[in-house]
Amino acid sequence: MEAIRSDFPILTRTMDGGRPLVYLDNAATTQKPRQVIEAMNSYYENTNSNVHRAVHTLAGEATEGYENARTEIAEYFGAPRDHLIFTSGTTEAINLVAYGWARANLSKGDVIVTTEMEHHADIVPWQILSKERGVEIRYIPLERDTLTLDMDAFEIAVSDANLVCVVHTSNVLGVRNDIERIIQLSKSNGNDGKGAFVMIDAAQAAPHERINFLEMNCDFLALSSHKMGGPTGIGGLFVRPEIMETMDPFISGGDMIETVTLEGSTFQKGPQKFEAGTPRIAEAFGWHAAVKWLSSFDMKEVHKHISNLARETAARMSAIPGIKIYGRHDMESCSGVVSFLHEKIHAEDLAHLLDSGGFAVRTGHHCAQPLMDALGVSSTARISFWLYNTKEEANSFVEHLTSIVDRFG
Ligand code: ALA
Repeated sequence: MEAIRSDFPILTRTMDGGRPLVYLDNAATTQKPRQVIEAMNSYYENTNSNVHRAVHTLAGEATEGYENARTEIAEYFGAPRDHLIFTSGTTEAINLVAYGWARANLSKGDVIVTTEMEHHADIVPWQILSKERGVEIRYIPLERDTLTLDMDAFEIAVSDANLVCVVHTSNVLGVRNDIERIIQLSKSNGNDGKGAFVMIDAAQAAPHERINFLEMNCDFLALSSHKMGGPTGIGGLFVRPEIMETMDPFISGGDMIETVTLEGSTFQKGPQKFEAGTPRIAEAFGWHAAVKWLSSFDMKEVHKHISNLARETAARMSAIPGIKIYGRHDMESCSGVVSFLHEKIHAEDLAHLLDSGGFAVRTGHHCAQPLMDALGVSSTARISFWLYNTKEEANSFVEHLTSIVDRFG
């Protein structure tokens, strides 16, 4: 653990009053190891240039580094390089499915199945599409007692669905959906037995599970670099080339064209068709470094560590008078997220009081207002662990929360 933590410069930072930083907002974004920071600095110090354009040495090195990042990041996610489109993150990746694929392939009478558990990024694009094209959206509810998806409702809803869009792991509940079954049912029963297309939002899954795009057998896989130790500003959409060919560009301009005349344009083939303009070059170097760094870990062990921290902490928190936990932490598959409220102390006040003790936690609706409605709350406080968090940090968090409740509860 000491060796892992020593890779993260920010973890040695002290907060007001000389208290150590206890960073428990990893579901929003993780901290970055020095390998990522150094890769990006080194790119700017030694290699900075645009890609795919000039013939000078720097341009060649930048292009090679950028494309090499695509190869190795794709490999980390179990796919060849021509399956990975770089986007700004999960949100843009899902929007690319909505604007690039769904607009070209779905029309009035078609059905999208999604869930009550989704992040707004996997709701709003479908609502806009539905308004424009008359596509029907069906939301799979949560079973209120188990806080898992109602799979009976899913089985019924999917039977004539064209597209299924589901979050892999909830950013609020810590619940990992049964993605394997969701994909299998969508492929075998969806679209009247012809098989539905499936989009998986893996933003919260990639930090603690080794995702293999081809093995998963979904059609679109969206994820972000910054939730797995990489920089902000980059993420990806995995798509098989034959599906990519049926997609229209979402953003157009330089670098994505083959030819442009005043009469019209032709486009590049493959991922480049969807990466108009100067791409996120330093960010690709940074994400590549994050993936190399994460490759040195057994992700099953990483998951166990994070999930155990969440389970033990949630159990201790629920013994604090007035604290109510939202989510499931009793299953091995659960993530490092624990959402909670106190019956009297407002979540924002709790967060400020925790912050003054050095604990970084998030409050709000977590970009999941329909899920908040299902839980009967407007917001929650949330802690979220990652691989560098320790039992000592979890213990001191519980102690600090207990002292706040003793004083103000
Ligand atoms: N979606 C991110 C979160 O859950 C930002 O905090």
